[in-house]
Amino acid sequence: HPKQEFLGKKVLITSGPTQEALDPVRFISNHSSGKMGAALADSFASQGAEVHLILGKGAKKPQHASIQIHSVTSAAEMYEAAANLHPQADIAVFAAAVADYAPKHVAEEKIKKAGEAMTIELVKNVDIAYSLGKEKRHHQIHVGFALETENEEFHAKEKLGKKNFDLIVLNSMREEGAGFQKDTNKVRIFSEDGSEANSEVLPKEKIAGLILERIKKLPVKI
Ligand code: PMT
Repeated sequence: HPKQEFLGKKVLITSGPTQEALDPVRFISNHSSGKMGAALADSFASQGAEVHLILGKGAKKPQHASIQIHSVTSAAEMYEAAANLHPQADIAVFAAAVADYAPKHVAEEKIKKAGEAMTIELVKNVDIAYSLGKEKRHHQIHVGFALETENEEFHAKEKLGKKNFDLIVLNSMREEGAGFQKDTNKVRIFSEDGSEANSEVLPKEKIAGLILERIKKLPVKI
């Protein structure tokens, strides 16, 4: 049995994709499987934490029976669930792939095929991590992810600051065995104090373990 180093701590994790409806049968989404979030949830639970996992549709479920699952569909629903749980959370980990935009109008009936081209107007979604980052108190820890395709380090460090994260976990779409859907990941973890840790390609369970180790090293007293 692993040490119960998060015993009594409340952990909020967002995981999986969001779905933004276009009409009753279609949506905009992404390739997130929820594997990274499930691995994190199980890691925290195995070390004694009370885990609340906010799960997008179709995302992988964790194994630990103690984990409380909050199922959501859209980014707006994910935000609502996260905002409700956040005041009680000691640690929040934002592993979900959240749609940045959603269709402005959701058609009540199935959109009919018409001309050769069509345009869909999108409006910005709430940024869950940014919004809760503004509410973060001195005894709370926020961990974000960055999924990048270019200028990875620059974008990750920019998000670390902008979203008020204590740690950001960078996974690149350019790395083999990393990112969406895979059972493995390869990450660089940047800390708010400027330190960095890198991993090899490892099972997501092992990556989750590394992230928990970095959290334990933070100066924040939760
Ligand atoms: O689910 P898997 O298939 O296992 O894949 C794992 C993963 C690749 C989805 C995961 O490791 C990951 O990188 N998650 C974040 C993906 C992402 O959308 O990153 P981003 O760079 O767009 O967002 C930056 C951070 O802000 C993330 O912590 C994200 O959860 C958060 N965010 C983004 C937009 C938004 N509207 N709300 C948010 O909270």
